[in-house]
Amino acid sequence: MIRQAIIPLAGLGTRLLPLTSVFAKELLPINGKPGIEYIIDECIDANIKEIIFIISKKKAIIRKYFNNDKFYKNILKKKKDKRIRKEYKKIQKYNKKIKFVYQNSPKGTGDAVLKTQKYIKDNFFLMLLPDDLIIKRNCSKDMISIYKKNKCSVMASMKVNKKTVNRWGIYSKKSNINKNNFFIKDVIEKPSINSAPSTNAVIGRYILPKKIFTKLKSQKKGKGDEIHITDAIRRLIIDGEKFIGHSFKGKYLDCGTLNGYIKSSQEIYKL
Ligand code: G1P
Repeated sequence: MIRQAIIPLAGLGTRLLPLTSVFAKELLPINGKPGIEYIIDECIDANIKEIIFIISKKKAIIRKYFNNDKFYKNILKKKKDKRIRKEYKKIQKYNKKIKFVYQNSPKGTGDAVLKTQKYIKDNFFLMLLPDDLIIKRNCSKDMISIYKKNKCSVMASMKVNKKTVNRWGIYSKKSNINKNNFFIKDVIEKPSINSAPSTNAVIGRYILPKKIFTKLKSQKKGKGDEIHITDAIRRLIIDGEKFIGHSFKGKYLDCGTLNGYIKSSQEIYKL
C-alpha cells in the first residue's frame, strides 16, 4: 500500500523571479487555483492518506495558507458566502492530511527527502515534484497500480528534445516490459547532450523505497553542488533494487519556468 506522499517545497523558485521574490511559487495561481492544490488533489484521488510538505522558514506562507483557521472563522461569522464556505471546507480537508517538516537550507531534492525519514511508515512512498503538473490523467494513481503488480519502485518518464537533456534526469533502459513501462538500467542527473544515454527524462513522480534513506545519508553532492535524489536512486539500482520507468499518459505542464507557468493556465483553462 502506498499511503504517504512527500512534496519538496523548500526550493527558492529563482526560475520564476520576480514572481517568487516575495511569494511561494507553489501558491501562484494556475487558472485561478494555487498550483500546489492540483498536486494535493492528485494525491487524494490516488488514495494517499498523509502528505508531508518539506518547507523552509522562508516558505512559512505555505503553512499559513493551509492553517489559517482563525482568519476564515472570523470572515464566516460575518458573511455566509457559500463559495468561501466551500473553499474553507476544502482547505480544512487538505490541512487534516498535511504534515510539515523543515529543510532550512536548500541543499537539493535528496536532502529534502532525507528530512522525512522518521515519518515514513511503509516500505514504499510517493514523491511528487510541485513544478511538474500532469493533467488529463492521474499519473500517481497509474504508478501505484504498477507498484501493486510489481512491488518495486516506479518513476515517471517522458521523451524530451535531445537539446534539452541537460535539464533533466535521463534514463538508460534495461528492457521493455510493455508499451508504457520499462526496467531502468541507470539514471543520470542532467547529462550533457553527448553523454546522455537516451532522451527519456525523469518527470517529478516517484514511488521510492524506504531503503533510499540509507543511501541518502551518505550521498555526496552532485551536479550544481546539490544532493540529488537521482544519484541515490542510481546507487540503489547498482545494488540490484528494481526500478520501473513509466511513460505516463496525460499531458505534462512545466510550471517551474515562466513560459511554462503561463502556458499551464491556458492549458488548464481549455479542459
Ligand atoms: C528535478 C530532478 C530531475 C528531473 C526533474 C523533473 O530537477 O532532479 O531529475 O528530471 O526534476 O522536473 P529540477 O527541476 O529540480 O532541476
